[in-house]
Amino acid sequence: MRDKVTVPAIKARKHQSKITMVTAYDAPMARIVDQAGIDMILVGDSLATTVLGHANTLAATVETMIYHSAAVAQAQPSALIVTDMPWLSYHISTEETIRNAGRLIREGKAEAVKLEGGRKRIPMIEALLAAEIPVVGHLGLTPQSVHAMGGYKVQGKELEAAHELLADARALAQAGVFALVLEGIPDILAKRISEEIAIPTIGIGAGPYCDGQVLVFHDVLGLSSGHLPKFVRQYAQLAEIATQALQQYKTDVQGGTFPSDQETYHTHADVARVLQE
Ligand code: KIV
Ligand code: NA
Repeated sequence: MRDKVTVPAIKARKHQSKITMVTAYDAPMARIVDQAGIDMILVGDSLATTVLGHANTLAATVETMIYHSAAVAQAQPSALIVTDMPWLSYHISTEETIRNAGRLIREGKAEAVKLEGGRKRIPMIEALLAAEIPVVGHLGLTPQSVHAMGGYKVQGKELEAAHELLADARALAQAGVFALVLEGIPDILAKRISEEIAIPTIGIGAGPYCDGQVLVFHDVLGLSSGHLPKFVRQYAQLAEIATQALQQYKTDVQGGTFPSDQETYHTHADVARVLQE
């Protein structure tokens, strides 16, 4: 087994080799991601859409995040477990932020938390760091802002917005987040941010110049339904494979070829004789 991935190890990867992160929401998924040698598992609030079937991530609660994070931790992955703070769990006060993150760590067995937003989150981030909770930032197309953004739109395309994002990235790095997810921003802006800050940037729909990449499990493996954004590369079509397998199972049951004798328990011959009388 490889060494446990730690927060300092992730920070030290900047300028060394590209970092990989993939979401997982339960123990078998975490095992698959970990076996592939991925550096970080994200228990993303994307689980609200990918596994709970909601239209966006706003439905995720602290309870849901704890439940899935704890399931992921049961796999005891070498990959670092980062769990998303859901919407409204870090917006009300620094006290509530620490209490909620503390529950993700203690009950959900997360090793770090991620939260969305820029300079306005600095007091919450500082409070978390003071409580010894490592934090990952998340800027750009932040899905918890879906209504404020008016949908999922690429952010930072205009010069002023780009400068705002750059200032946010600097502030988060300065505050002490150990990595920064950049989602849905132009490649050149992600490049500039990656060059300017001392911590690794992890891109999703942010081009090739980030220090690492993150994708959603269901998207990479062909388990999500509906439209896929252009930044997703699908490495397998697992839903198709699963459907075909289950169709074959149905055919075998109806055709009487499942279960076979080898797949069946038997009694001793004398017991069988009596039961068949
Ligand atoms: O919830 C999630 O899956 C995420 C990634 C898309 C970065 O936040
Ligand atoms: Na998320």
